[in-house]
Amino acid sequence: MTVQKTQVAIIGGGPSGLLLSQLLHRKGIDSIVLERQSRGYVLGRIRAGVLEHGFVNLMREAGCGERMDAEGEVHEGFYIAHQGRNDRIDLEKYADGATVMVYGQTEVTRDLYAARDAMDGVVIHEAANVQPHDLKSDSPYVTYEKDGSEHRIDCDFIVGADGFHGVSRKSIPGDVLKEYEKVYPFGWLGILSETKPVSPELIYARHERGFALCSMRSQVLSRYYIQVPLTDKPEDWSDDAFWAELKSRLPEDVAAGLETGPSIEKSIAPLRSFVAEPMRYGNLFLAGDAAHIVPPTGAKGLNSAASDIYYLYHGFMDHYLNGDSAGLDGYSEKALARVWKAERFSWWMTNLLHLFPDAQEVDQRLQCTDLDYLFSSDAAQASLAENYVGLPY
Ligand code: FAD
Ligand code: PHB
Repeated sequence: MTVQKTQVAIIGGGPSGLLLSQLLHRKGIDSIVLERQSRGYVLGRIRAGVLEHGFVNLMREAGCGERMDAEGEVHEGFYIAHQGRNDRIDLEKYADGATVMVYGQTEVTRDLYAARDAMDGVVIHEAANVQPHDLKSDSPYVTYEKDGSEHRIDCDFIVGADGFHGVSRKSIPGDVLKEYEKVYPFGWLGILSETKPVSPELIYARHERGFALCSMRSQVLSRYYIQVPLTDKPEDWSDDAFWAELKSRLPEDVAAGLETGPSIEKSIAPLRSFVAEPMRYGNLFLAGDAAHIVPPTGAKGLNSAASDIYYLYHGFMDHYLNGDSAGLDGYSEKALARVWKAERFSWWMTNLLHLFPDAQEVDQRLQCTDLDYLFSSDAAQASLAENYVGLPY
């Protein structure tokens, strides 16, 4: 068995783990990232597309903002299509000038890998059977297998940034961890197509046939979603069937302008609200999807991961550079307070815009009234806008 040594062992080489290791490295704090998959696999996943301004600033602080600032699109608003109308939320007006950046998670991850490579950061791919140990002691360690041999990393702290299905959360004893979960009775079927986006800004559509979302990755790459039953499979949906269903859920003038083409990716994501508390156990810290999941309606998944990383980054800086453990000690409470607000917002957006299989007429009328109220009230639009651009860290 080989033994390596580092200050922070990070399990998971998704955006959370990579961003943390990059930020720490720039402050002279050493880390090793262990990733179960290959780099190609991680980069093949099509996920989030909207970055809060706080995340954008964190990417810049990590020295990874150059391509994002050049190629990402600043969005000052988005649309909600409902009851035949296409109403706009003016983010800039209602959120004190704050905006969001449309730049895909795939590109974020690519930029983080490039930055890690440029600094000779250690990211170990295809690490199998990763296991954290001795979490309550001052000398925790992580074991893993690679190329048929066993390895061990001795460290001060372990960060579990290994997503919802990772090993880190599962290593916290059941009598310590409390999990809150809600699974929604539908999923999102998403496609990526090399077509011009139907609208310069995102359109979230509430329709009697179900929810739809028109998003994008660039001016030549569109990302569209439709709500589907959980029993559907991507292969049940031909491209033609997808485009026809999407059009039927959009206002007529929008549908008329929709450019269609072959899909280059098609997948179904289930919708879930999930929080695990606490986010610290001994010297293990959970971050991102390892600790919480939101339904994607509010675009908060990746952004909530980023706020965890912000708090952890500052906690580790205080610990290593100033000998002050208050940031790490307060991490779980601080991160969870913001996470729950993102959960609330995502749950509200999901309830506002989806067709629930068991909805009665009264539920539909209340949904429409919620939307009517939203667009009649500056206060309601300001509330939506401040949440969408991201609550302060
Ligand atoms: P992840 O991106 O999940 O990264 C965790 C990493 O840990 C992975 O690379 C994984 O391979 C690795 N790993 C797992 N187990 C182990 C192990 N035992 N050992 C070592 N490594 C391990 N958010 C939005 O805002 N909008 C969206 O449209 C959207 N769509 C999504 C679609 C899907 C299918 C999923 C799953 C998520 C989506 N999200 C979306 C959420 C968003 O992508 C996540 O919030 C974000 O990826 C969280 O980053 P993370 O680094 O915490 O976790
Ligand atoms: C996306 O572009 O993938 C996207 C955008 C906004 C959301 C969810 C997903 O709310």
